[in-house]
This record gives sequence, structure tokens and C-alpha cells, in this order.
Amino acid sequence: MNQSDQTTERLDAETAGISRAAELLQTGQLVAFPSETVYGLGGDARNADAVAAIFEAKNRPSFNPLIVHVASLKAARDIAHVPRWAEPLAAAFWPGALTLVLPSLGVLPDIVTAGHPTIAVRVPAHPVALALLEAFDGPLAGPSANPSGRISPTTAEHVADGLTGRIAGILDGGSAPVGVESTIIGGEPPTLLRPGGISVEDIEAVLCEPLRPHSPAQIPNTPGQLTSHYAPTASVRLNAETAQGKEILLGFGAIKGEQSLSPSGDLREAAAQLFAKLRALDRQGRPIAVAPIPDHGLGRAINDRLRRAAAPRHDQHTMTASKDLSQGY
Ligand code: TXA
Ligand code: MG
Repeated sequence: MNQSDQTTERLDAETAGISRAAELLQTGQLVAFPSETVYGLGGDARNADAVAAIFEAKNRPSFNPLIVHVASLKAARDIAHVPRWAEPLAAAFWPGALTLVLPSLGVLPDIVTAGHPTIAVRVPAHPVALALLEAFDGPLAGPSANPSGRISPTTAEHVADGLTGRIAGILDGGSAPVGVESTIIGGEPPTLLRPGGISVEDIEAVLCEPLRPHSPAQIPNTPGQLTSHYAPTASVRLNAETAQGKEILLGFGAIKGEQSLSPSGDLREAAAQLFAKLRALDRQGRPIAVAPIPDHGLGRAINDRLRRAAAPRHDQHTMTASKDLSQGY
């Protein structure tokens, strides 16, 4: 299953394609699926071999805990305890780009949580992801569908670039509309573990209290998460007003650039464009400069991913010298 000469079926996000994807998943094979945030690499979370195959297909050097996707809050209760702090968040944001780290009921194999007592759970909002979860009828483990060390995929084409020959199928649901990964909240008290597709402001409005910033101890098996990884091969310079030397400037709002994340200064558009633009710019082989992005709303997640892209490379815990967002995330 982890060989790189596997046939990778390209599946349309219609009834037949979704049924075929569910059938592959039921036999322990891996299928990439669209979600509203980024494409996920799905495997049966009840099947330890399928989950191990996810790590192999991504070439992930360590067993980071995975997010488990379920169809509903009711299905979440089959695998996790939903404490009082989490109830209003699930009610407000599920289905959606919010992952909750909850006490695990221990019903899934340990490899899913890397042996931790908590489990990360999300109900995705994408209609194709929900249709797949319904057809599959079980929990789906799903990290971002990119090889370790590469940018998260927001289209089926991005997935195919990285994982063709390594997975059984790719369910094509078009471009992921949000474009950055989910916000991750752990408890207790409720703590921001990763900024993402639901803004901190919106979450705090539901909680009626500020989210705590995380401490590294709350994030298992993710050394270097704060500074490292993620990987255009080109160097990345942030908060640039103009290009210097050979740099190609990625603009935002009034700063035009050779390309722009959003000419009108719309943070939603910028998030949706971010990974595809970085991939495209990286192919040009020039250093990348990025205009300042306001640090509120979705800008917080965009700046988090950009800081990782710009962080100095180091190879403390990856087997190569590449930076890797997906290693931390
Ligand atoms: O939007 C998303 O979240 C996408 C889509 C496919 O759902 N998934 C995604 O998964 O970004 P991944 O594996 O790339 O990032 C999940 C991160 C892990 O790296 C880890 O830091 C955190 O979630 N995580 C998982 N389980 C955890 C736990 N029990 N405690 C704390 N953090 C956890
Ligand atoms: Mg990832």
C-alpha cells in the first residue's frame, strides 16, 4: 500500500466517485478528499494498518497525532468525551474549520493519537467530505494530503503532484474554499493550539472569554512547531513593501506586487489563495517577498503559515533539511 507504483484513481465528486472512495477506504486503502480547509489524506481511523499507511504515504518521519473527521457531533461522541467547554464551540462551528482536542474514549487504535489521552476531532463543512463520511460510515483519520515537507494541497492537482502512485484514490472536489487548515482548540481552559480557518475573534465571541495562548507542552510530538518547517524551496521574506534584487513580490491590498494574494485586501480571498500562490511562485526559482498581512481574523492564520515558510531551515527532527509545515501541523 505504501509503494510508489500504486495506481491512483482520480474520482469525480459525484455519487459513483464517492461510493468508490468509500469502498477503497473500507478495504483499508487511502483516499485524498476535499475539505473546506485543505485536502485531507483519508484512511479508516479504526484500522491501525490504514493509519500507519498514511504516515508512510506522506513520508512523515514521526507519528504526529492525526485529526479524525466525523460526520456529526453525535459521531464525535463515539470516540471522544465532549466536555462542557467544547459544547458551545461544536454547536457554533461544526460542521466547519474548527478542530477540538478532546479527551479520547480510547476506542480507536493508539497510532491515531500517538498514544496521547486526547484526540483531535473535526466535522468538516465541505459537502463532498460529508457525503464521503456518510457513505464510509465511520471516522476518517486525515492529515493534509501532502508529502511531509511540502505545502498543503488546496486542489486535487496539488494532491496528485505529491502523492500519485502512493495512494489509492483522489476525490476531486475543486478548490478548497477556505485555503488554510482548521483552527485547533484544546482544553482546559480553552487554548489556541493552531490559528486557522475560524478566527480567534469568532471563537472568543462564543466562549465569552479570551483563548489562552498555547504552551509547547500541550502539543504532542511537535518539537520545533513554533519556528520551523514548511516549504517553498525559495527563501521567503515577510512584511516587504517592495521587491529587492531578484525577489518576486507577492502583494496584498495597496501593495500590488507581481502577483497578489488579494488586490482588494480581502483576508478570506488571501487565505484561499495562499498555498496555490506559494506553489506557483516557488516554481519560478526566485526568492519570494510577501507584503504585510493584517494580523486579525484569518490574517492570523495566514501570518502563522508565512512565518513558518520564512523560518530558517534546520534539520533537528526531520530526516532532510527541508522545512515542513505539515510536520508541525
Ligand atoms: O484543516 C485541517 O485541519 C486539515 C484537514 C484535512 O482537516 N488537517 C490537518 O491535519 O491540517 P494535520 O495532520 O496536517 O494537522 C493536525 C495537527 C497535528 O500536527 C497536531 O499538531 C494536532 O493537529 N493534533 C492532533 N492531535 C492532537 C492532540 N491530541 N493534541 C494536540 N494537537 C493535536
Ligand atoms: Mg499538515
